[in-house]
Amino acid sequence: MERQEILDKHQQFLFPCVANYYQEPIILTEGKGSRVRDVDGREYLDFFGGILTVSMGHCQPEVVEAIVEQSRRLGHVSTLYPTENLVRAAERLAKMTPGELKSCFFSNSGTEADETAIMLAKVHTGRHEIIALRHAYSGRSALATTITAHSNWRPLPAAIPGIVHGHPAYCYRCPFGLSYPSCDVRCAHDLEELIQTVTTGQPAAFIAEPIQGVGGFVTPPPEYFQVAVGIVRKYGGLFICDEVQTGFGRTGGKWFGIEHYGVEPDIMTFAKGIANGMPVGATIAKPEIAASMSGLSLSTFGGNPVSMAATNATLDLMVEHDLPTRVARQGKVLRDHLEAMKERFDFIGDVRGMGLMQAIELVEDRQTKEPAAGKASRLMETAKEQGLLLGKGGRWGNVLRIAPPMLIDDDALAEGCTKLEQALAGVK
Ligand SMILES: Cc1ncc(COP(=O)(O)O)c(C=O)c1O
Repeated sequence: MERQEILDKHQQFLFPCVANYYQEPIILTEGKGSRVRDVDGREYLDFFGGILTVSMGHCQPEVVEAIVEQSRRLGHVSTLYPTENLVRAAERLAKMTPGELKSCFFSNSGTEADETAIMLAKVHTGRHEIIALRHAYSGRSALATTITAHSNWRPLPAAIPGIVHGHPAYCYRCPFGLSYPSCDVRCAHDLEELIQTVTTGQPAAFIAEPIQGVGGFVTPPPEYFQVAVGIVRKYGGLFICDEVQTGFGRTGGKWFGIEHYGVEPDIMTFAKGIANGMPVGATIAKPEIAASMSGLSLSTFGGNPVSMAATNATLDLMVEHDLPTRVARQGKVLRDHLEAMKERFDFIGDVRGMGLMQAIELVEDRQTKEPAAGKASRLMETAKEQGLLLGKGGRWGNVLRIAPPMLIDDDALAEGCTKLEQALAGVK
């Protein structure tokens, strides 16, 4: 099909809510490593990795090979049958994750992984209230959109009762007008008042992303989770850590984002980068918590042999390349470039993130911090002209998210930084 025909059919046959990036959407047809090519043969450097999902690079040969090989032998069994790929992936996750997380449930998306975690927490505690955070994103089901705290991602009013939202550790726009560290992480301490005032005082769980992804890579200070989770545990609640974006070395130095905060979750969720682009969701829990689900639960496609082959190939590669170390080194290079750009361009209000998960927040004015959403959109277009794909996010759409595939080489990383700087210089 020609490009215009694809665009016309997209408009005609898909829900209008399936929004594309860019005024003229890019129709991608091929990818290799950190580069993709469109239908007209134009090449782009992918600095967003399909929303942090192409964790190791497009069409990574080892992962492709594992998918093809498994598809030829056995494509589907459902969770009614155990397979070697399934138990290998579960064992690998149990060994990689911190603390006592040992029991896995596989599904097909982050939405399902979070749904599973919340259902499990409710069953285990016999309680029904969930503490989430404003600016969170959890997916697109009724429950997940109720956890999600961005009005534009909520097509309907909150569908599930008992979910309340605390303030995130969004230091650049502190909800209490304070500054770190003299604030003494008021946002974390405020969870106690939240529990005491708008719940029964008996939360089932607190669900949070170590770094809020869709929220614009909002990165809490080091003591945030110890205080927040400490309060929730004091009231008998579990901690569900959503590592859908932050997992598998992305934050540099550790396998999982929460490990930077010295807190061990009761349940963790994964999706996106776990299988380099294959649809896999996973929930891992402490065995005694997982054992509480005494009823039956299956997922027709969850843990299918092909997805699990991709998961194992991806996780093997991550270990082989010692991703946490690699990402810490490259993340520092990226961060140094972004800090230098902040010195040069006064419309960059904040630089934040960890590892290869970094963001710049654009503002009209550094004093007022008025969000510069229009500028962020124009910057996306300018970067596209330079052959660079970025991500956008944040409550006001003014945050540019940078998260390339984690096997990006040093030259491509430097090239992307140069292109980004050129785009910043050229944006109107
Ligand atoms: C932190 C987080 N959790 C859950 C989800 C939902 O994942 P999915 O789109 O695979 O359902 C997302 C998706 O962006 C996410 O960023």
